[in-house]
Amino acid sequence: MQKIDFPPDERWIVGVSGGIAAYKTAELVRILTRRGHAVQVVLTASALQFVQPLTFQALTGKPVLHALFDPGNEKNGMDHIFLARWAQQILIAPASANVIARLAHGMADDLLTTLCLVTDAEITLAPAMNRLMWEHPATQDNVALLRRRGIQIIGPDQGLQACGEEGPGRMTEPESIVLSIMEHRSRSKCRPILPETRILITAGPTREPIDPVRFMSNRSSGRMGFALARHAKAMGARVCLIHGPVTLPMPQGVDGIAVETAGQMANAVFDQIGQCDIFISNAAVADYTPREVAGEKIKKQPGEISLSMIRTQDIIATVADGSNPPFLVGFAAESGDLVSYARNKLKHKKLDMIAANRIGDPGSGFGDQPNALHVLWNNGEVILPLQSKDSLARQLIELIAQRYHQCGERHHVE
Ligand SMILES: Cc1cc2nc3c(=O)[nH]c(=O)nc-3n(C[C@H](O)[C@H](O)[C@H](O)COP(=O)(O)O)c2cc1C
Repeated sequence: MQKIDFPPDERWIVGVSGGIAAYKTAELVRILTRRGHAVQVVLTASALQFVQPLTFQALTGKPVLHALFDPGNEKNGMDHIFLARWAQQILIAPASANVIARLAHGMADDLLTTLCLVTDAEITLAPAMNRLMWEHPATQDNVALLRRRGIQIIGPDQGLQACGEEGPGRMTEPESIVLSIMEHRSRSKCRPILPETRILITAGPTREPIDPVRFMSNRSSGRMGFALARHAKAMGARVCLIHGPVTLPMPQGVDGIAVETAGQMANAVFDQIGQCDIFISNAAVADYTPREVAGEKIKKQPGEISLSMIRTQDIIATVADGSNPPFLVGFAAESGDLVSYARNKLKHKKLDMIAANRIGDPGSGFGDQPNALHVLWNNGEVILPLQSKDSLARQLIELIAQRYHQCGERHHVE
């Protein structure tokens, strides 16, 4: 069986400069460490006025660095050079107008700017400042200069600012910063192996209402489906993403359709299926839904109550039974004999591929936990070992593209 090797987890320097948005960087660092990355935080002297190093030290397990000339940290007098070489990605968030100016003009007057001059890692800035500072021609010229040098600039976003003004200058939200970096990398690295292919993806949980305030749902975060959509888009596909209730930003260039219940998800899929070449059914759709939704909130009462549930429609099986189905990719999550269950499901539901993950395995986690998949098709299988959902999604889309092309694109819709 083919086993695919993946690059080790990444090493990031997160730089923090002096702005109010520095408080949001703690959340950013938490997202990165939970993805399995090693993070070294470097603060400017001004950043120390806004945030405490201890917060970042607790989140990363590493002492925070801020001084260029620190005999304690310079074991051989050259540690800033080693740190710059160690990093695979430098992200400065928030990036102040001042740090942007210093970088644009090649200054190396503190540890953070010196690292940026020494490194050959990717550098990304997430600016945050008052809207007039951002719109000032000096800042705009500096940003344009940095962009021309290949530095990625994310944001700033529009909105209400800490100073009470409204306009461009808010730091992009931490989750969106990380996703933008992933999207940028996918665009610059990936080959357009799915040009003009239309891909329909479902993601996230569904919610089945019990009464006006209660519902049944599951732990699906939608992250895998959103990452699949992002990579499919980056590989040249036209992507439609039907998703249940999630809190994730829609990947750039992807058409999103938000639904709530299993029934709404089924209807949205049946509406779109005729216009797609590949259908990836990743949503955790409820298998059962309450027979009736109470019109009023169900009151507390003594003793037990029972809820009568009926089966929801099996979306992918219905699509497979239709005329001229697209290339079908299903998912299976099982706690028992995963592979034989998945192989049965592949055959029984007439799928082209199935991606199975074992509930309870380390890393079979929900949310932003890493994951592993066992992918099966008619006469083959591949294990995609434990890694972040983002790189797993990229591997899976490549595999789907490969199989889709090998099958002679027999499903291609005219
Ligand atoms: C309360 C306060 C908030 C500030 N917020 C910002 C900000 O959001 N963005 C910015 O570019 N500068 C802001 N500044 C100004 C920077 O802190 C100042 O330009 C500093 O020199 C930046 O240093 P650094 O780039 O080395 O971190 C703020 C200053 C104060 C006093």
